[in-house]
Amino acid sequence: TGLITLDPGYANTGSCTSSITFMDGERGILRYRGIPIQELAQQASFKETAFLLIHGSLPTRDELTQFSEQLTDYSPVHENMRLFFQNFPPNAHPMGILSSMVNSLRSFYPEIANEDEEIKVTVTRLISKIRTLAAMSYKISMGYQVIYPRPDLSYCANFLHMMFDSTVRPYELKEEVVHALRVIWILHADHEQNCSTSAVRLVGSARVNLYAAISSGITALWGPLHGGANQAVIEMLEAIRKGGGDCRSFVERAKNPNDSFRLMGFGHRVYKTYDPRAVIMKEVCHKLLGALGRSDALLDIARELEATALEDEYFISRNLYPNIDFYTGIAFRAMGIPTNMFPVMFAIGRLPGWIAQWLESIRDPHWKLSRPRQIYTGPKETAYTPIDQRV
Ligand code: CMC
Repeated sequence: TGLITLDPGYANTGSCTSSITFMDGERGILRYRGIPIQELAQQASFKETAFLLIHGSLPTRDELTQFSEQLTDYSPVHENMRLFFQNFPPNAHPMGILSSMVNSLRSFYPEIANEDEEIKVTVTRLISKIRTLAAMSYKISMGYQVIYPRPDLSYCANFLHMMFDSTVRPYELKEEVVHALRVIWILHADHEQNCSTSAVRLVGSARVNLYAAISSGITALWGPLHGGANQAVIEMLEAIRKGGGDCRSFVERAKNPNDSFRLMGFGHRVYKTYDPRAVIMKEVCHKLLGALGRSDALLDIARELEATALEDEYFISRNLYPNIDFYTGIAFRAMGIPTNMFPVMFAIGRLPGWIAQWLESIRDPHWKLSRPRQIYTGPKETAYTPIDQRV
């Protein structure tokens, strides 16, 4: 079998070559197709960013118009899918619902014979429908009437409209909220070979359809150490607030080797400095709350917790800094997004990255089925014991 190198968590294994996202964890740099994340957050739309990741360059005006029109055309979901939603139990987690719904899209929209056309349609359909599915799952879980997408609204505004408009009271689409959501989704759009993206590539390597590969990415993202961290951060900040705001005791708990508790929203496999996305998020959060004329005790606690941790030798020596999830939850709360929908918000943002990585992998001339090896530690050859002789 040759020599097998053990690399737990694949921390030192390059699983592919990629020209999509550049990350420098030591210097805190993140670029999509060469463009710094800061420039995209400032100037690009989410649609442009999605196009950039998937096609390799920013769209021309005509390409963007065409892409926008297709997204509008695909935005409603098959009426029969609503029956699915209604049969999930009321407390079903939205990530479980979303991954099932995305996987079921193949049954509703069968494969198109022409491969290029199939890819084009599937990619646009997914980007468009994920937003509708997410908003529908929220409305149905609340027992509210589903709100349909509007062709005149931008990608982000349309999502907010479907989430918060109602037949009873019209939702006022505030520009600052749309702006914050655009930046958050851009910041989430890709992050090279993270756990969910690796899941998409690995499952995709068996040549499953794109819906199934993306569904596996959503499932991986559900975990509290990955996309569920934004929800876990809010739960932690709430616990600190309820305990009287004592940040120090939580920092001490996180340092205790006999306690499995970790500071949520802190630390990153690749960044050994401040996550560049967290720098932007902190600012977005501050501006959003200001624009909405709101204060949030959790933001003050987050700032204090950050300051307490960053002065502590344990966090300094291990290069543990806030990551993107540390502040996104507070922004989502200000927008009115329920806590259990936070990972869904991450999934919508990450979708263009998953798609771009899937496309790159299936077009790779050196493509191989993903099939890691192991180092066996079980018993040597052992004889079968008939059941009446077992003790
Ligand atoms: N709080 C306290 N200690 C920590 C933390 C934390 N959040 N993160 C890492 N450590 C310690 C860890 O205990 C270990 O200490 P020691 O060397 O004494 O054993 C050391 O730092 C290295 O940790 P690790 O687990 O080997 O590092 P990793 O690269 O495997 O973990 C991580 C990365 C993100 C899973 C981890 O930092 C963590 O659990 N953070 C909290 C969850 C979180 O915020 N996740 C979101 C990640 S960013 C969004 C995304 O990309 O999904």
